[in-house]
Amino acid sequence: LMKGVVLAGGLGKRLEPLTRITNKHLLPVYNRPMIYYPLDTLVEAGITEIMIVTGGYCAGEFLRLLGNGSECGLRDLHYTYQRGEGGIAEALALAEHFVNGDRMVVMLGDNLVEQSIRPHVESFAAQERGAQILLKEVEDPRRFGVVEVRDGRVVSIEEKPAHPKSNLVVTGIYLYDAQVFDIIRTLTPSERGELEITDVNNAYIRRGQMASRVLEGWWTDAGLPETLYRATTLVRERELKRRHAARPEPVTA
Ligand code: G1P
Repeated sequence: LMKGVVLAGGLGKRLEPLTRITNKHLLPVYNRPMIYYPLDTLVEAGITEIMIVTGGYCAGEFLRLLGNGSECGLRDLHYTYQRGEGGIAEALALAEHFVNGDRMVVMLGDNLVEQSIRPHVESFAAQERGAQILLKEVEDPRRFGVVEVRDGRVVSIEEKPAHPKSNLVVTGIYLYDAQVFDIIRTLTPSERGELEITDVNNAYIRRGQMASRVLEGWWTDAGLPETLYRATTLVRERELKRRHAARPEPVTA
């Protein structure tokens, strides 16, 4: 069984004042709250057991909004709460009991993708052990975890480097086996005082257990005013295209 974990904590400081009185993942992206998109992506990929790790403000509003997840096609939804801003890896650690030794797809609550991730989930399921990251080429790699690739393999990841070694960045979709929780226990906080997901991924690389695949279609985060706006634009375009495709052909005599 493959579990799903959506990370939706943090204080969303880069979106002040939009996030002063609410959680970033409840903000609108076109016609739905942000959290709907990563949830949809997981459900579409066949994942039915999902935990939302929230935190910061308005944690109760997730329950009010999503209830038991039936609107997303789920039987129920699991929730937990992260105090403070200890980082993505710390948030993931809170899901250990829920994951209960299974494999998992972790998705950052502010990441949106155009296409299905099902092929990646299937390739990970066929992988003997370890982890898989999904990569994307971008114009502004300095905002992200940037990979160094040698002979077609990822040899290291640098978090927000001043001098990126490539344009290929790590998206906020991570596939892990249960070793991830042992790895997180070995981590120490970074300069920004957080347990970094990039340190987790580098540990898998050192173990020789990290696979990587490149995402097709668009990908964006939504944690900055510019990228929140971009997310809305991309979702809107996709939505209009779908509506257009669903329209019945006009009847001609
Ligand atoms: C986080 C990760 C980074 C990754 C990004 C994807 O950055 O630390 O490696 O590329 O998510 O959205 P953050 O948005 O927390 O700064």
